Amino acid sequence: MKKTASAPAPSPPQVKIPFFNVKRQYEGIAVELRAAVCRVLDSGAYILGPEGKAFEAEFGRLMGSRRAIGVSSGTAALRLALKALGAGPGDDVVLPAMTFIATATAVSEVGARPVLADVDHATMTMGAEQVRAALTRKTKAVIPVHLYGGVADMDPLMKLAKAKGLAVIEDCCQAHLAAYEGRCVGTIGDFGAFSFYPTKNLGAAGDAGALTTQDAALAEAVLRLRNVGRPPGDNSRHEIVGYNSRLDEIQAAVLRIKLRHLERWVERRRAIASLYAKGLSGLPLTLPDPGTGRTRHAFNLFVVRTPDRDPLMRYLADRGIGTGVYYPLPLHLIPAYRDLGYKEGAFPEAERTVRTGLALPVYPELTDEEAGMVCKAVRSFFK
Ligand SMILES: Cc1ncc(COP(=O)(O)O)c(C=O)c1O
Repeated sequence: MKKTASAPAPSPPQVKIPFFNVKRQYEGIAVELRAAVCRVLDSGAYILGPEGKAFEAEFGRLMGSRRAIGVSSGTAALRLALKALGAGPGDDVVLPAMTFIATATAVSEVGARPVLADVDHATMTMGAEQVRAALTRKTKAVIPVHLYGGVADMDPLMKLAKAKGLAVIEDCCQAHLAAYEGRCVGTIGDFGAFSFYPTKNLGAAGDAGALTTQDAALAEAVLRLRNVGRPPGDNSRHEIVGYNSRLDEIQAAVLRIKLRHLERWVERRRAIASLYAKGLSGLPLTLPDPGTGRTRHAFNLFVVRTPDRDPLMRYLADRGIGTGVYYPLPLHLIPAYRDLGYKEGAFPEAERTVRTGLALPVYPELTDEEAGMVCKAVRSFFK
């Protein structure tokens, strides 16, 4: 029978590729994870016990960091680092306008003022040039963010910080095993702050985080600060006003299991990024820079940039492919931070990135075939 002009077009096949899929990761290691959680439940030691201690040693070793301290979240890690460095009321802390809001809320929590800077076009991270433009007489610290797993240019930034006497906290919440000149991020500044939110490269079964530092005195300060001011092993003394920001034993046990897979998982993220780079080449898209010889991207997120971001997002959603926008607004245009007084146009690169950036699915369990389907769908959008 002849088709009439008004017949509905056949609907495209419904591919189902979620943007995140933490359950797939769980299913691959469920037996180990359940055993680890049960071990903790049976032990009766739930806070500051052997699992947390072992995790700190193992995480520090993998990162190449002298010290690693488990804490309750990435936000807590940032807050404790600021507090240990003495940042508080009257201090300015410079951070990129293009980051998750927690980078700024940690600064607000300790009573300091977040001072924003723009980001570099290629890496979408804040470098020395952007920090220099944001310095004030009150600047106490800077927080470069290794956004999406990409790496901020640390060398010039550290030189600037040294010359000006500023502390540096690397926000590594999206960048486990990203590296700069052969060193894992988080081991270059005074502190590295990590989140183990479930969708991160290393994700807990809930909230968790860690700090890395090479400085023994700073590490000791954090040990007290995370445990309501008490020195390790002595619950009777409260020498300083601290927080309850401890890593619990169940999360530590889960993280220890997952840590064994982390190098392989990050390699797989990088392999998917290579598939995307090949499969999307030649399209009117800005692809993320996978890193030069000096840097290693850890691809917590694979963010492409295009002026057609919103229609592309809808097109992919119609075909069952999940994507994400990181972030819908730069910090200076978020209502919570309007009172910082920045106007639209203050940080052009951050503003461009929020209008054009689209994160495609990238997780170790994504198959080559699925990555191929994503590329095919993106290519067909641009046809
Ligand atoms: C860049 C950045 N900083 C800070 C955080 C805060 O980490 P958490 O959610 O563990 O508190 C996150 C988490 O999403 C992040 O992506």
